[in-house]
Parts: sequence; C-alpha cells; structure tokens
Amino acid sequence: MKFFVDTANVDDIRELESYGLIDGVTTNPSLIKKSGRDFVEVITEICSVTDGPVSAEVIALDTEGMLAEGRKLAKIADNIVVKLPLTLDGLAAAQTFSKEGIKTNVTLCFSANQALLAAKAGATYISPFIGRLDDIHIDGMDLIQEIRAIYDNYGFDTEILAASIRSPMHVKECAIVGADVGTAPPAVIKALVKHPLTDKGLEQFIKDAEEAGIKV
Ligand code: E4P
Repeated sequence: MKFFVDTANVDDIRELESYGLIDGVTTNPSLIKKSGRDFVEVITEICSVTDGPVSAEVIALDTEGMLAEGRKLAKIADNIVVKLPLTLDGLAAAQTFSKEGIKTNVTLCFSANQALLAAKAGATYISPFIGRLDDIHIDGMDLIQEIRAIYDNYGFDTEILAASIRSPMHVKECAIVGADVGTAPPAVIKALVKHPLTDKGLEQFIKDAEEAGIKV
C-alpha cells in the first residue's frame, strides 16, 4: 500500500520524505487555509519537495470552471493530480481530464455507487473518506471493502485512495482490505512506527551494550 501524507505543511512533508516514508501528498482547501499560505505558492513548493503525486483541489463547481482551474494547476508541475468533487460536474471534468492525460483524484466519496461512477469517468484515484463516515456511525472500512470488490469485478484501473484516515488502526485495516493508497496526517504516519516493546527492548539493548563496552 502506498502512503500519501494529508497536509499542506511543507516542513512535515520534507521530514517524512527524508525518512522515505511517503509516496505522495494530498491537500484540500481546509488544509491550505490551515497552512496560512497562498494556494499556488504552497502547491508549487510541495511539488518541488516530492516527486510523488500531489493532489490540488479545484474550487469551481461547474465543469468548465473545473477544467480551467485544473489545467492551470496541471501546469505547475508534472506530478500534479487535479482533485475534483464527486458531483456530476466533477465526473464530467474527470472524463475530459482522463482523455487529456491529466491525472485526477475524485474526492468526497461516501458510497460505492459514487466510486463506481468515478471509475467509469476514468478517475486516476477515488478518495473514500473513512473517518467522516465513522463520525456518523457508519463503518468507513465497509466502504473500502465494497469499492475493492467492485473495482476487482470489472478490472477498473482507478486506485482506491483511502482518505480521512484518523488512526494507525485505520491504516492497518485499509492494508488488509486492499486499498491501493492511504492518505493520513503526518502524526498518524509517524505513529505507525511506535511500539512500547520496541522502545523497551531498545533501551535494554543500549544499556547492555554500554555495560559490555561494545563499540562498533
Ligand atoms: C483527503 O484527501 C482529505 O484531504 C482528507 O483525508 C480529509 O480528512 P478529514 O476527514 O480528517 O478532514
């Protein structure tokens, strides 16, 4: 499973890149707002920090507007993925971009039928939001499983980009059910490495190494 980091904080992206932990970046207007920076400026900088796909979301609600914004965004760098909302206009834009060879991430997916439509429209990625479904007492992981089954039934190339991941448990379950990609905040990605027995074991090994006078 590929890992994308869900943030517009360039320092966090740089740090995770330095550990070789991420394969790409996703952003959304709320994350851009949180960064306090200019949209195009921050997306351009992110694209210079990573070679992986960088999702940048359009603001227009109509197909023509989405196409105009998406084409502008696609010119920023080769690794831009145009993020489109899961609406009829967004699906029409995804279809056009697919013909033009511009990569797309269809976002705000909350049902298997929506994901089926996005795949038929030729989306590069579909983003089902796990955490936001869990928030309203619907198991978000069931959705990932349903989409996996549908895409496998018909051999769709669209990648399942599990989004709105809130915990390491979400990451593990996504990997088990076969999501192609998981996008998560930096803190969740860093939490994946943590285990108390690793910390305890390492502490003991270092202590014993000191006592044994081990030098490398
Ligand atoms: C993904 O592309 C979205 O930006 C993100 O995962 C949304 O997560 P949230 O529901 O925690 O805001």
